Parts: sequence; structure tokens; C-alpha cells
Amino acid sequence: GCDASLLLEDRNSSYEKQAIPNLTLKGFDKIDLIKEEVEQECPGVVSCADIIALAARDAVLLAGGPFYPVLTGRRDSRQSYFQEATDQIPRPDDNVTRTLQLFNLRGFNARETVSLLGAHNIGNIGCDFIQQRLYNFQGTRQPDPSIPLDFLADMKRNCPPDNKNTSTNNSTNEFSTFTISKPMNVHDSNKKGMSYTQALSSISSGKSLDTHYYQSLLQGRGLLFSDQQLMAQEKTARLVSAYASDDGSTFRMDFAAVMLKLSNLDVLTGNQGELQIEENAEEMNRHSVFLHVLADSIRRTSWCRLIMHDEVVSTVSS
Ligand code: HEM
Repeated sequence: GCDASLLLEDRNSSYEKQAIPNLTLKGFDKIDLIKEEVEQECPGVVSCADIIALAARDAVLLAGGPFYPVLTGRRDSRQSYFQEATDQIPRPDDNVTRTLQLFNLRGFNARETVSLLGAHNIGNIGCDFIQQRLYNFQGTRQPDPSIPLDFLADMKRNCPPDNKNTSTNNSTNEFSTFTISKPMNVHDSNKKGMSYTQALSSISSGKSLDTHYYQSLLQGRGLLFSDQQLMAQEKTARLVSAYASDDGSTFRMDFAAVMLKLSNLDVLTGNQGELQIEENAEEMNRHSVFLHVLADSIRRTSWCRLIMHDEVVSTVSS
């Protein structure tokens, strides 16, 4: 859910940030920084969940993507979900059936899933996530045969073999090759890799959220196996073609709508959850009394809401 549970840390048990799909997430320092500044202006009013949702929206906009309105008033989770994150976040080596299934668990249909994956128009895919396709696809010690040869050469140039990452040790089940061969470490220098602008260098726009992700997939030039898998099923392949076929406006419209839906996914409101002022769960508990006192200040609350420039769905004064 969009409840900032991802930020919680707990010395006594595993927490979401430690789940393999989350190990390469970046930007926590930026969220801290924003939270610090907002706390100085409006103590105890704006949740981390709202900050994450607003930061995601503004990041999309700054990357040349569409604007979408973000409702505020989310409360922060008190609970972290390590196991759910481990089991239910789609993996780069998942097939399309599995990807659709996992998004469907959270209420997203095929069209919404295909448009959400268009986020890969921007950013970089680290070599760690590409190696298996290049050097040991599904334990064959061969590349994924579906990669066009010129693109395979390109990818290999960008991501030379890394022995640690292509071993087949213990790779017995359908989904095991990726995680067992190299558990990702957040401190890995994962700078190398490729972007979808590189995958389709003939498309010039480069930086913005447009059609080049989908055009790459049409040409078999997907970087992740799970990306390219969108072409493996007729329904998703048709959506990829549709998003690739105009100036990007169909994708951008759908992307705005689905990001709005994502930002409202299982939000906590009213008396649910709380308002974090520290990332650390123990610290958070120490401060929660303080926060509730401050939250009673209606005048200050209203002023702070104006600063957010967004609509408020629920108040913290309850
Ligand atoms: C099947 C679903 C998905 C899988 C398997 C997946 C997997 C990945 C992987 C492995 C990376 C590379 C990370 C790295 O090298 O540090 C990545 C990057 C990225 N993903 Fe996804 N992703 C999925 C869906 C999404 C969705 C729904 C969004 C947003 C709405 C998203 C946004 C991004 C962005 C922006 C990057 C670039 C990050 C950067 O440059 O640092 N992804 N994804």
C-alpha cells in the first residue's frame, strides 16, 4: 500500500527495505531531506506516505512525464511487510503470466500493468539484472535466444560477463536463477547498465516518458526478461503496439491515470497508522505522543495544507 511502510526499520526483525526486490531502491535520503524541511514548517502534519506520493508525482513531471493530481492525508504504516515484498513484488525474470497475476493481486488490469511498466522509459537497468539473459539464460549457459543479435552484442558490450552473477548453483526452480545466483546488495556499485534510450538509440527524445520503451519491445530490444515478456501474450502485445503507435499521448494519459491509482493504493487515513517523523520504528514510537499534540493545531494544519498545493482527503486533527 501507499503507506510508507517501506521506510520502517526494525532491529528485531526483517523489514521491507531488506526484501530482495527493494535492495536497489534509491532516493531514501531525498525523502528524509524533504521530510526534515516539511517538519520544520509544519511539524507533525505531513506524513511520509504523502511525501513519497508527491515526490513520485513530481519526479514523473520533472522527467518530462504527465501531471496527475495527488490527494494528501495519507497516514503512515506502523508495520513493515518483508514477506509480502519478497513474495509479491514482480521479478525481472518473471514471465508475463506471473507479472500480470501479481499486478492483478493489487487490482491492476493488463492495460494498467502495461502502462505502469512504461516507467522504464526512464532510468537505468543495472547489469546485475541483465547478466542472466546474456550469459546463462534459464540455466542454459547461453544467451536468451529471443534477443536480436546486434542488440545482444550491444548489451554484452555494456554488461561484460560477471562470474558471480551467472553461476547456476542451486538454480533448481523456475524463479530461482536470479536471486540465488546473486543476492543484490544495496552497497554494490551498480552504476553500469543500460537504459531504454540506449536500447533504441534511433529515438531522439531521450529523457522523457514517451514511446521508446514500447518501441524497443516491438523490436525485441527489451532489457529485462519481464519487459520483453509483454510481447509474449497477444493481449499485452496489442497494448504495447497501441502505446508505441502515436506520439506518446495514449501512454501518457493512461500512465497519469494509473499512477494516480497507484498513489491511492491501500492508503491509511483518519485514525489509522500514524505520522512518522523518524525512519526508525523505535524512534517513531518515542515521538508519536509529541506528534499527536502538534496535530491538534488546526490553524497550523490548514496553513500547511496550503503549502502542499494539493487536495486533502482526510485530516490529521481527528
Ligand atoms: C514487472 C514489474 C517490474 C520489474 C520486474 C521491475 C524491475 C526493475 C529493475 C530490475 C530495475 C533496475 C534497478 C537497478 O538497476 O537499480 C528497475 C528500474 C526502474 N524501475 Fe522497475 N520494475 C517493474 C515495474 C516498475 C514500475 C511499476 C515502476 C514505476 C511505476 C518502475 C520504475 C522503475 C524506474 C523509474 C527504474 C529506474 C531506476 C533508476 O534508474 O535508478 N518499475 N525496475
